[in-house]
Amino acid sequence: MQLKDLIRQTAAQFRKAGITSPVLDVQILAGFVLNKDKSWLIANSDYRLNSAQLKLINDLAKKRLSRVPIAYILKTKEFYGLDFFTNDSVLIPRNETETLVEWSIKLTPKNAKVLDIGTGSGAIAIAIKKNRADLAITATDISVKAINLARKNADNILGKDKIQFTTSDLFNKINSKFDLIIANLPYVPNNMKNKISPEAKTEPKVALFGGESNGLDIYSRFFAETPKYLSKGGYLLIECDNFQKTEIADLAKENKLKLIRKDYLHLAFKH
Ligand SMILES: C[S@@+](CC[C@H](N)C(=O)[O-])C[C@H]1O[C@@H](n2cnc3c(N)ncnc32)[C@H](O)[C@@H]1O
Repeated sequence: MQLKDLIRQTAAQFRKAGITSPVLDVQILAGFVLNKDKSWLIANSDYRLNSAQLKLINDLAKKRLSRVPIAYILKTKEFYGLDFFTNDSVLIPRNETETLVEWSIKLTPKNAKVLDIGTGSGAIAIAIKKNRADLAITATDISVKAINLARKNADNILGKDKIQFTTSDLFNKINSKFDLIIANLPYVPNNMKNKISPEAKTEPKVALFGGESNGLDIYSRFFAETPKYLSKGGYLLIECDNFQKTEIADLAKENKLKLIRKDYLHLAFKH
């Protein structure tokens, strides 16, 4: 079978299954098996696939048809220009979260102490450290499996022991103050469980759902404890849903944190 026929047929199946980027997804899977980029696939659309290549691509396509995200199929996701290992024990790092990395790199003074709470794959902490080697970074997560994967990503991208990883429920295992705290904690309301995409349903519930009604149970607990662990003059950066920003700003105000910056999904506070 020629590459162009495989792409056309598989993309049609993906489209029928409700996958939102059918052509791109099959190109990514074919490119992975053939070890070629998208421009090669386009320039060589007459390429004849051998039976082994065809089988490998079809096996991956079958997984995608059952709505497994590409990042879980290929076990990797690019974030802030770096390649992270991913598996279904961590949230797939989202490109919009890169804003937290950008703000951290710009706001944080030299040699500051940084805490990334709910690190998942380690994406935020590792991307910051890659760009600011001077910072002393601690990263925590309630999930042991997430911490293990984050450590593997850090070893791979930064080298051994560049970030301190700890399994902890919020600040439970933390006993010092930080100049910057970053949190992308779960904020999807529990009653949205049936409304999220089939792909998001394959991600860990502990990474997504933030509680009943407004989804802010974990953030409420987090804000109540933050002032104890944030240095005076230190920064707090968080991600939440746009509809939650007013409630989050109130939680911050109650805990003596001043809003200094915001965009659609992110808020920055100063202590
Ligand atoms: C939305 S994911 C974010 C992952 C990663 N920081 C990112 O941006 O890609 C939330 C993370 O918070 C972790 N988490 C959930 N509840 C927690 C808690 N009580 N204490 C610490 N981490 C928690 C989850 O295991 C998950 O890895």
